Amino acid sequence: MATPANNPHLPFGDQRSAPWYGRDILTVSQFNREDLEYIFAVAHEMRTMVERVGTFDLLKGKILANLFYEPSTRTSSSFVAAMERLGGSVIQINEVRYSSVAKGESLPDTVRTLECYADVIVIRHPEVGSAATAAQYAHKPVINAGDGIGEHPTQALLDLFTVKQELGRIDGLTVTMLGDLKFGRTVHSLARLLSLFKVRLNYVAPEALCMPSALISELSAQGLDQSESTRLEDVLPQTDVLYVTRVQKERLESEAAYEAVRGSYVITPDLLKKAKEEMIVMHPLPRVGEIAMEVDQDPRAAYFRQMEYGLFTRMALLAMVLGKA
Ligand code: NCD
Repeated sequence: MATPANNPHLPFGDQRSAPWYGRDILTVSQFNREDLEYIFAVAHEMRTMVERVGTFDLLKGKILANLFYEPSTRTSSSFVAAMERLGGSVIQINEVRYSSVAKGESLPDTVRTLECYADVIVIRHPEVGSAATAAQYAHKPVINAGDGIGEHPTQALLDLFTVKQELGRIDGLTVTMLGDLKFGRTVHSLARLLSLFKVRLNYVAPEALCMPSALISELSAQGLDQSESTRLEDVLPQTDVLYVTRVQKERLESEAAYEAVRGSYVITPDLLKKAKEEMIVMHPLPRVGEIAMEVDQDPRAAYFRQMEYGLFTRMALLAMVLGKA
């Protein structure tokens, strides 16, 4: 596990005293509200800098190993863009079948290899706990970019940053999560992060894809106000943030199981007539039919802006764990 204090592998010349220097980002449970304020402040600065100068040399000479064992468009390319906008560079391993993983190399060995060449490792892997395993073997910081149905902490951070930027606050909001709440890791991480705030959380899902009861109990114990329903109409008029997700087809046991739940909910302009004027529709993307394309023109559709907030958030996280923020 990388920690700044005990780590002889971290190079000199960096701000070793910076609070996030050398730390892993594995789960949202590691953050408190103060941490979030800090991350959002750095992300906000990143936004200003990108809008002002585009690219700058904060991480010049630093190398990111971007290791993806599962498909990705946004997470992978936004980490590349984040690193390059900060003047660093990237070793990209998208197709693990072309790497030594295909020869049977273990995750610990792959991680130990990459840290010989890179200063930080981003990993996405189909198994829950894989990022934590990687961090156990790595001396350099490891960032979890999704571990199976477990967590997706950087997505949750960018989601919350989006809410803060778009609506100006988090306390007092009603957030409705819709879709595949059983297998969707983004909602698991986001619900945990939201439990740090005074929000009301509605879960709307088909019976077969409802929020895991263990997670609901965990969050109730922290005093989070939660409710479950299968009907979006029941909660839409009170909703401030509608967080839509796709059915995680690749994690279902059969095609028939997918067909049974596919198309359960579709957001259309007509449906949004019943929603507040000041609300936002979010989606971690990719969408596969849950939000009609006609919704894209609605100013409440925040999912494309959400991707941009993701770039700034990931720039902030890279700068932080590399001791430059
Ligand atoms: C999500 C993921 O990979 O968990 N995508 C993303 O990172 N933006 C959501 C999904 O795949 O449905």
